[in-house]
Amino acid sequence: MCGIIGITAKTDALSAIVSGLKALEYRGYDSAGVAFFGKNGLRIVKAVGRVSALEEKLGEETTTCGISHTRWATHGEVCEKNCHPHVSFGGACMLVHNGVIENYAELKKYLLEKGVTCSTDTDSEIIAHLYELLCDGDPVTTLGRVANALEGSYAIALLSALHKGEIFAVRRSSPLVIGRRDNASLLASDVTALPNAELYYLEEGRVARLWAEGVDVMGKRFHSNAIQSLSAPDKNGYDTFMLKEIYEQPQAIARTIADIPKKGRIKGEALLLGCGSSYHAGLACIPLVEKCTGRHAEALLASEFICSHALPANGQTAILLSQSGETADTLSACAEAKKRGYKTVGITNVETSSLARAVDENRFTKAGAEIAVATTKGFTTQIVALAGLFVKDEESLRALHSLPTLAEKVVRLSEKTAELVHIFLSAKCVFFIGRKSDYGVALEGALKFKEITYIPSIGLASGELKHGSISLIEKGSPVVVVCADGKLIAKTLLSVATVKARGGVTVAVTCFEEVATACDYALRLPALPADLSPAITVIPLQMLSYYVATALRRDVDKPRNLAKSVTVE
Ligand code: F6R
Repeated sequence: MCGIIGITAKTDALSAIVSGLKALEYRGYDSAGVAFFGKNGLRIVKAVGRVSALEEKLGEETTTCGISHTRWATHGEVCEKNCHPHVSFGGACMLVHNGVIENYAELKKYLLEKGVTCSTDTDSEIIAHLYELLCDGDPVTTLGRVANALEGSYAIALLSALHKGEIFAVRRSSPLVIGRRDNASLLASDVTALPNAELYYLEEGRVARLWAEGVDVMGKRFHSNAIQSLSAPDKNGYDTFMLKEIYEQPQAIARTIADIPKKGRIKGEALLLGCGSSYHAGLACIPLVEKCTGRHAEALLASEFICSHALPANGQTAILLSQSGETADTLSACAEAKKRGYKTVGITNVETSSLARAVDENRFTKAGAEIAVATTKGFTTQIVALAGLFVKDEESLRALHSLPTLAEKVVRLSEKTAELVHIFLSAKCVFFIGRKSDYGVALEGALKFKEITYIPSIGLASGELKHGSISLIEKGSPVVVVCADGKLIAKTLLSVATVKARGGVTVAVTCFEEVATACDYALRLPALPADLSPAITVIPLQMLSYYVATALRRDVDKPRNLAKSVTVE
């Protein structure tokens, strides 16, 4: 979603700001803008579309201090007017904002009473006006007072017209990281935009001041918790980040297995919470969790859990799954779970994320940076980290340790899905079906497919097909059948027959010859441990989606309308 990058330096900072914006592109956005100190004071340049359009507009401009933003529209349509930065009514400040201001209507009314009218449809603009209204001459205390008046989530970076070369920042429930690098101070909503920098995590509600030589927070020089960030991600010779990340799965899975502690298994009832693919990972692991604990387990969408009846926990553990650790729905679900008395365990890929700081206990996936918006190695490593919380008997542990080799084999085998692309190219709707663990994988396969191909797709529990969705099956409808559990062969064959009787074209992703031969096409997989199979069976579905999307010339790494980290509810 929206991204922020700001830099104040001794030399030109504009090209570094543009590079930072490019590093944030993967998060998803629809417009971009920058505010900076130019020759004649503060300047704003904005553009709808890609950062390259903004870069073109910036032409030969230079600056030593600026803030910028990639916007993913929530309040108001995609247009230059609504694009950040926003300027206050008298030009005292310019700012960029990530998050959602919940008392926006109330503050807008207050501004109107003071004779200030808003000119955009955003909730962010009111923050700039409020700053100018409350301004006491000191940007740090003023921004602190503005922050106190705001409800909701925010990461704000601000330039004050009277404080050339300085950036002021504050955050609450929205990430903002500060960095130091070669006589420059930087800030960003995502560490990916701050490669090779010493990082500092800004605490909630504290106002930071950045200038070329240093950073202070509420008057105190800031030099604790320094962490060195990674170097900038690159495609390593692959055409896209997504393809690179699909191929990185065996190593990512191996790293995640190596990180599983020897002790600390969950024994009681578990509730698995997450959104999108993270929810699918939870759902796909329910059979494994129930087998290991011998107790009931459930996976719920985080956004539904927060709206459900607030029944108190009865000794259960809530496991919160989130690759980014910044998903607003999952963070709210974590707060709600704590309120209801659950013990909370987080599974995230980002050790410094908001979720990692909010939960009682952490487990980390070791996927490494995932740049493509559609997750691949993020999903498979979640399955492994989840398994690591429960699996304890020797046979299952051995099965867990076999996953990297299996993933290696299946990544190679999945290249064959390129030959199946023709089945999907003109489909009106594509179906993915499976039972038990394969059901979670079917949902993930359908999500991956629609995300990057833009062809409608539905993931279904195989048994549900006949209860309604079968009306959509017509001659040539592609149906991908996932089956990695020997106990489900008979039932799967029945589903295949039902689809074929209506003219559907079936594609098996299976380790069983009976299922493979019953289908029109098949990708034959090696024997898999059924309960851990989601970490493997999803790989061909990722690759299939990738090949169909590239055949359709989609922007695979940055699909339209999507954001990598969804920081609004
Ligand atoms: C899809 C995808 C999303 C995320 C969802 C939750 O490819 O990545 O469905 O899984 O937005 O994000 P996290 O896992 O960061 O909480």
